[in-house]
Amino acid sequence: MTLATLYMPKSLLIVLLIFVFTISAISVSNDGDPVAKTMEDFSGYPTSESESCSSGSLSSLSVDTQSLQRQIEELSSFSDSPAPSVTRILYSKKDVLARSYIKKLMQLAGLSIREDVVGNIFGKWEGFNSELAGVATGSHVDAIPYSGKYDGVVGVLGAIEAINVLRRSGFRPERSLEIIFFTSEEPTRFGISCLGSRLLAGSEPLASALKNTVDSHNISFFEAARSAGYAQDQDDLTSVFLKKGFYSAFVELHIEQGPILEEEGISIGVVTAIAAPASIKVDFEGNGGHAGAVLMPQRNDAGLAAAELALAVEQHVLESGSIDTVGTVGILDLHPGAINSIPSKSHLEIDTRDIDETRRNNVIEKIHQSAVKVTKNRKVQLSEFKIVNQDPPAASDESIIKAMEDASKELNLTHKLMISRAYHDSLFMARVSPMGMIFIPCYKGYSHKPEEFASIEDIANGVKVLALTLAKLSLG
Ligand code: GLV
Ligand code: MN
Ligand code: MN
Repeated sequence: MTLATLYMPKSLLIVLLIFVFTISAISVSNDGDPVAKTMEDFSGYPTSESESCSSGSLSSLSVDTQSLQRQIEELSSFSDSPAPSVTRILYSKKDVLARSYIKKLMQLAGLSIREDVVGNIFGKWEGFNSELAGVATGSHVDAIPYSGKYDGVVGVLGAIEAINVLRRSGFRPERSLEIIFFTSEEPTRFGISCLGSRLLAGSEPLASALKNTVDSHNISFFEAARSAGYAQDQDDLTSVFLKKGFYSAFVELHIEQGPILEEEGISIGVVTAIAAPASIKVDFEGNGGHAGAVLMPQRNDAGLAAAELALAVEQHVLESGSIDTVGTVGILDLHPGAINSIPSKSHLEIDTRDIDETRRNNVIEKIHQSAVKVTKNRKVQLSEFKIVNQDPPAASDESIIKAMEDASKELNLTHKLMISRAYHDSLFMARVSPMGMIFIPCYKGYSHKPEEFASIEDIANGVKVLALTLAKLSLG
């Protein structure tokens, strides 16, 4: 960007962004770089970006779709389950490889990188007015077992590409732009969703609970974190907390994970609010015994108690009177897990959500009443009923909604206002920063399964809207 453009009115600068800019060549050598080599070994692709960004091309907010598609494929190769599924669990070897991969791309995008003690990764493009609070974007790349390659990934790789788009356009941010790679948006390993962003939002209860948290193999949170190179010599997580106002805005790009945009043929979802999620762990205990020898009247079967409660969850959700109330028993474990042994212990994990917090809380209360009732019917003990999280919903910030809508219009992309039924790191970033989210369509709304898919054209549209929104917010 020339000196003259720096003194232009901000609106003109934004308009200019949408028009023609020279793309400079990005040519990178991976000679001797172990991370690049790992990327290549795992993916079978060369990681040099030189081939798809030729010098001297002209474009308007041009997204390098070829590189972006290739990165999505490469990242999906860091998985503990066979393609097309992706499984990438917090602090596993594959998670660590994915982290190196993303840091490498951030480096290639010219960002300065820092990491906090739990492994939230920040890539910063310094603004020319760096005393102002920065503008942040980002998402996660951890993936629940046997899921797909787009959930979260589009918001991390897409954010890096949005920065590249802005750089190629010649744009210079006034406020710094920062990409955040959030640690463990998914609850898979430690049962805590949005672990990194909850801590960034200053959750004292979580910082202290993690001191005693173990995974299903009895590996402590800190042991796991240390194996991935984090939290080396401390177990005080308060250094992760962000002060309110540290960022002037946070915007996340994500696949919709629902069918609306695709069904209605709309390119961009502008999120106005994120539904309120809660999760509950329940344990029942009975006497167990021999599946042949113990007669039916003498049994107190912890497995049947769990089954009764699972059906009660469905009933309470359906009785809420709203289609927006949902409930899922995604985990149901029986002990000892032998065909000829009456279950002596059962463990359920229940997820329930609603856009209306009071209605969601009523469902939680009814689930608790049912759990108590089941103990009487089945003569079992309720050894645990733990509400792991009971989060309030979050509303997007009006000025960010406007920036996202304006960006969509200026790019001639159709958009609609919508709520997010899935939760996101944005839910927690909203506690410390004005927040907004950009959705793009995904095939049949599929998510959390291998069939998850978003077309590169839809992703590119999302990247453009993100780039332009970041540009607007960074000059605001
Ligand atoms: C996020 O993965 C969610 O479960 O909504
Ligand atoms: Mn997810
Ligand atoms: Mn996600």
